[in-house]
Amino acid sequence: MSSTKVERTLILVKPDGVRRGLVGQVISRIESKGYQITDLKLMNPTRALLEEHYAEHKGKPFFEPLVEFMLSGPIVAMVAEGERVIEGFRSLAGVTDPTVAAPGTIRGDLARDQGTKVVQNLVHGSDSPESANREIAIFFGGK
Ligand code: RTP
Ligand code: MG
Repeated sequence: MSSTKVERTLILVKPDGVRRGLVGQVISRIESKGYQITDLKLMNPTRALLEEHYAEHKGKPFFEPLVEFMLSGPIVAMVAEGERVIEGFRSLAGVTDPTVAAPGTIRGDLARDQGTKVVQNLVHGSDSPESANREIAIFFGGK
């Protein structure tokens, strides 16, 4: 709780969020919380980029549906910065399953189970400093 280490995290607005016009709301919640957005772009990721990003899930039953979903439209990628932003953004996002994500969170307020093969939950946030470094390099390393 007393840590003051400034971190960076990779945040994605997934295709469902862009399709539904929720980019502004996601950015607004990040900024209202007090984090600084230091990089941002709209993009159409390649399959290769997404398979690298989600490498930890390779072999799981939802891997292919997840990649297909992430290829289904443009996404917004951004880097946010601040003390404990990794944990802070995941708290803003809510748990993975939007049906039970707490009201007040991005997923809890704005998403629900749509009966799709893979859960569509609007946003991604890095889950550790190591993941953040790896993911920021994937999305912004070669810009
Ligand atoms: P994210 O990486 O997107 O921020 O989400 P997360 O940490 O909350 O969830 P993670 O376990 O990393 O899973 C990545 C994404 O894969 C889909 N997923 N579906 N059992 C399932 O159907 C299942 N589990 C995961 C979700 O889209 C999740 O966000
Ligand atoms: Mg994850």
